[in-house]
Amino acid sequence: MERTLVIIKPEAVIKKLAGKIISMYEDNRLDIIHAHRCLPTREVLGNHYQAHQGREFYDNLLDFMSSSEVIVLVLEGENVVSIVREINGSTNPLKARPGTIRYMFGETVQRNAVHGSESVEAARVEIEIWKDLIRFDS
Ligand code: RTP
Ligand code: MG
Repeated sequence: MERTLVIIKPEAVIKKLAGKIISMYEDNRLDIIHAHRCLPTREVLGNHYQAHQGREFYDNLLDFMSSSEVIVLVLEGENVVSIVREINGSTNPLKARPGTIRYMFGETVQRNAVHGSESVEAARVEIEIWKDLIRFDS
C-alpha cells in the first residue's frame, strides 16, 4: 500500500490546527498509520530539503521549520501521495483552491501549514530520513 509523509508545520501546531488538518485526511479515507510530535533537527531538515539547498529561501525555511515543534504523520492508502497533495493545495496559499488545507489555514508560501511528499519515491526517501526522529519502524 502506498505511503506518504506529512508534516504539520510549526505555525499550524501553535494555532492548534492539527486536529482539523488530520480530520481532512481521514475524511478522505486515508489511514494515519503513525503520528509523532517533535522538534525537527537541522540535520533531518537538511536532508529533507536537500533539493532546495542553495535556493534563496533555504536558510530561512530551515530556521522556520526548526523554530518550534511539528507533527509528522505517515499516511497510507491507495494513491495517497497525490491525494494528500490535492488536499494540501498549492504551495502558495493565495493560489490554493478553496477547500484545501493551504487555502483555509496557510498564511504565506513558507507558513503554508503542511508538507506532503511529491512522489512515491520521495515519500520513501523522506520516511527513511525521519524514521529515527519520529520513532517509526515498519
Ligand atoms: P511541500 O514540499 O512543503 O509539500 O510543498 P511543495 O512541494 O508545494 O513546495 P516545494 O517547492 O517542495 O517547497 C518546499 C517548501 O519550501 C517553502 N518554499 N518557500 N519562494 C519561497 O519562499 C519558497 N518556495 C518554497 C515552502 O514552505 C514549501 O512548502
Ligand atoms: Mg515539495
